[in-house]
Amino acid sequence: MSISKNFPILKTKINGHDLVYLDNASTCQKPQVMIEALSEFYTKHNANIHRSSNPLADIATKKYEDSRLAVAQFLNCQKNEIIFTRNTTESINLVAKTFAKTFLQAGDVVLLSLAEHHSNIVPWLQLKQEIGIELAYLPLDKNGYLDIVQAKIMLTDKVKFVSIQAASNVLGSIHDYREILKLAKVKNITTLLDAAQIVAHESLNVQELACDFLVFSAHKMFGPTGVGVLYGRKDLLQMMPAFLGGGEMINQVLTDTFTPNELPYKFEAGTPNIADVVAFKSSLDFIKNLTWEYIQKTEQELTDYLWQEMLKLDFVDIYGKNIANKHLPIISFNLKNAHAHDVAELLGEQAIIVRAGQHCTQILHESLGVPATVRASLTFYNTKKEIDLLIKNLRLIYNKFKV
Ligand SMILES: Cc1ncc(COP(=O)(O)O)c(C=O)c1O
Repeated sequence: MSISKNFPILKTKINGHDLVYLDNASTCQKPQVMIEALSEFYTKHNANIHRSSNPLADIATKKYEDSRLAVAQFLNCQKNEIIFTRNTTESINLVAKTFAKTFLQAGDVVLLSLAEHHSNIVPWLQLKQEIGIELAYLPLDKNGYLDIVQAKIMLTDKVKFVSIQAASNVLGSIHDYREILKLAKVKNITTLLDAAQIVAHESLNVQELACDFLVFSAHKMFGPTGVGVLYGRKDLLQMMPAFLGGGEMINQVLTDTFTPNELPYKFEAGTPNIADVVAFKSSLDFIKNLTWEYIQKTEQELTDYLWQEMLKLDFVDIYGKNIANKHLPIISFNLKNAHAHDVAELLGEQAIIVRAGQHCTQILHESLGVPATVRASLTFYNTKKEIDLLIKNLRLIYNKFKV
């Protein structure tokens, strides 16, 4: 059975054409098992969690905590080191607004990179405004990978926090993030890894990574929207003040003070996104059953074929030209004679879904010297036939705009 059969939306037709979904870096499609788990929760188990002892609440609480355990096993950490948030963005904000705001001071440097998503820039810019930290941006080498030589130079004594992506959502480059995290750790610098793009493509083991915090979104790994993950080292999470205040995150509330709850509840104020967190476990099980070996082999073949075919098009400018190093099945490009948004719209008419714009990376696009790019991002359920369709349609669009 073809793997795409597990994803019901892939049977959809648009304008009479079969859907060709090439926007997986934005959000990827959901397997039937996850959709069923979501429906089953609301049909059979819905109750608020952690609050009352009754058979329904007990099952709902167990299912929610089973998901936390599954994420902890996925990353190889302790269960109480996993905090559920809404998305990657909220996870980074949590760290910036609690850990960094408490333990950094004016003049301390936070090292980011020029390729970061706005989610990993704006919270730090806000902190700069609030407490006067400084930001430094690691450049990319000529092939679009975080520059290790520069990292060694830029990790000065003033740097107190490093927050970098594992892979670029635009260029597709899988950086040598392990090495950069190690370099930072040698200098005792606290580190955060933005795993939003890598998490659906390779296994992550926080015991082997020199990272203190790691963040990602469930919706980019075949899970539901509205669920984010923050892994934090237990001793750091314990030192940090709570983020949002409200129910569940407290141990005791008095008229003039409160004491926070134990980990991980201290960081999960209010009723969480119970059903989606529960359903997320089936996405993790789905990946586990598929195996990383299968995912990586399939994606490598697709990446090689995509780049090989795109490089044949002499009317296309490709960003991050070299894929000699490790690479996601992502390519960002422009047609020489057409605007990115027109290209995406015309592809859309043929049911080929790509994304056009800056992909929340204005600083990267400025350094590339282009206002916008078209991005095709694939995953294991895509096919070479779909790549052929993309190429065919890019030729047609080029010819249409050629005067
Ligand atoms: C590298 C990277 N970081 C962060 C994000 C933000 O993810 P979310 O919108 O799920 O918070 C994205 C989304 O595309 C991303 O690609």
